[in-house]
Formats: sequence, structure tokens, C-alpha cells
Amino acid sequence: MKNSSLAHDSLIKSISAGKLPKHIAIIMDGNGRWAAKKGLPRTAGHKKGMDTVDMAVTTCKNLGIKVLTLYAFSTENWRRPEKEVTFLMRLLKTYIILQRQKLMKNKIRLNVIGRISELPEFVKKELVKTLKATSGNTEMTLNLALNYGGRVEIIDAVRHILRDVLESKKDLAPEAVINSIDEETFSSYLYTAGLPDPDLLIRTSGEFRLSNFLLWQIAYSEIYITDILWPDFKEEDLYMSVLAYQQRERRFGGVKRI
Ligand code: FPP
Repeated sequence: MKNSSLAHDSLIKSISAGKLPKHIAIIMDGNGRWAAKKGLPRTAGHKKGMDTVDMAVTTCKNLGIKVLTLYAFSTENWRRPEKEVTFLMRLLKTYIILQRQKLMKNKIRLNVIGRISELPEFVKKELVKTLKATSGNTEMTLNLALNYGGRVEIIDAVRHILRDVLESKKDLAPEAVINSIDEETFSSYLYTAGLPDPDLLIRTSGEFRLSNFLLWQIAYSEIYITDILWPDFKEEDLYMSVLAYQQRERRFGGVKRI
């Protein structure tokens, strides 16, 4: 057995199956820097990043993670040069088509969060097909954040609540309407309704920022930041992040249990 596969096997063995994060969310950062370091165009970093996406999905599925959320395109990413945005949209379409069969084979459901209606038609067309095809899968949910922004998500939820109140609750006393909004109700209006909050948030490329990602949902997530650039992020690095998570003591605002 090679040293690397020994290290790989001992890493897997160190992971406690009973304390797995249910939901892992990842800010996949560093594609551009990875490409620049190699003297390649930024798009080459995104292309290589797609292979890492494939690895992350398979590894999470094999580990028994129930939800994996990937930040693939933010509401702010439209500010990038048109060529890069077009490349990312085409890459996304390719990924969605290429993965359809694999998601079915692995019983993974695809879900999307974000202002999906604003994506180009050629992406939406393929998205709808994969969403429909995989809707009955129950092993894992692959949740892609596309044209996603945490603030916009909160705004959309507030608008949705107001619309519901104006349409169906207008006969209720104002105080009753106001008091009907609690954390659970609010969560049910977010794009992530029905999904558990992330237990573990991973960010690659060493930046200490949230970049408008899942602002409400990560209130109590454990955060793991690695300097590794997303295209270089390997299966072993994912295991390391899960191991680090398992060593944390989650108190949710309470006190240390002695
Ligand atoms: C951040 O790196 C990455 C993105 C904005 C896009 C993420 C896309 C992928 C990983 C590939 C395709 C994804 C799917 C789901 C098929 P950056 O470009 O900001 O890197 P930099 O900070 O080094 O410039």
C-alpha cells in the first residue's frame, strides 16, 4: 500500500460516523489564483474547480453527509468580465448535463438556491431537467447556490411573507400577524426551507470572509478555513475539515458540559 493511500485510509478511520455533520456548505474560492499561479487564464481555474466539485460530491456521498451546499455563483459575480461570466454559465450547463446520470446512480437529489429566474435560459433549461429527474432521490441533497446572495435571500423572504400576509391574512388583527413570525416561520420562507442549517462551513483559499453566503443559516455553523485553493482541494482535505469539526465543542450559546 502506498504511503498516500495509508494516510487516506487512516484519515477516514479517524472520522467518527456518529458525529458527522448533516450539512456541509462550501465557499469554493481560489480558482482565479490557482490559474494565475500557473500562468493560465482564470477560466482554466474554474474548469479545474469543476473536477473538485465532482470529488466533493462523491466524497460527501460516500461519507454519509446528507446535504452539501456549494456556492457556485453569487449575485455579485455578475460584476466579473463578461467573458468569465459566460464561461461560468457554460461550465454550469455542462456540469448539470454531465452529472445527471451520476446523480441518479448515486441517488443524489439536485436542489438550487438563489434567484434562479435571472439565470440564462440555456442554464435553466438543463437545470429543470436535472431537478425533475433527481427529485425522488433521497441519499443526499446537492444544493447549488446559483445567483445567490444572503441579503437578497432575506429580502425575498420578507417580500414573500408580506405577500402572504396581504393575500391571506388581511382579516387577522395586526398584532396576531406580527406575532406569527418566529424563527421557524422565517426559515420556512428562505430558499433553504426544509433543509437543516449547515453544521460545517468550509472556505478555501484562506480568506476570512462570508461573502454574503447563507447569512441566516450559518448562525451556529462551525467554520473551517484552509489556505488550499479550490482546484487543489482534495478528498483528504475534506476529511481533515470533518475531523476538525468533530473536535469542536458546539455550545449553541450554552455552557461547556463538564
Ligand atoms: C471563486 O473563485 C469561484 C467562483 C466564483 C466560481 C465557482 C465555480 C466553480 C468551482 C466551478 C464550476 C462549478 C460548478 C458547480 C460546476 P475565484 O474565481 O473568486 O478565485 P480568486 O479569488 O482566486 O480570483
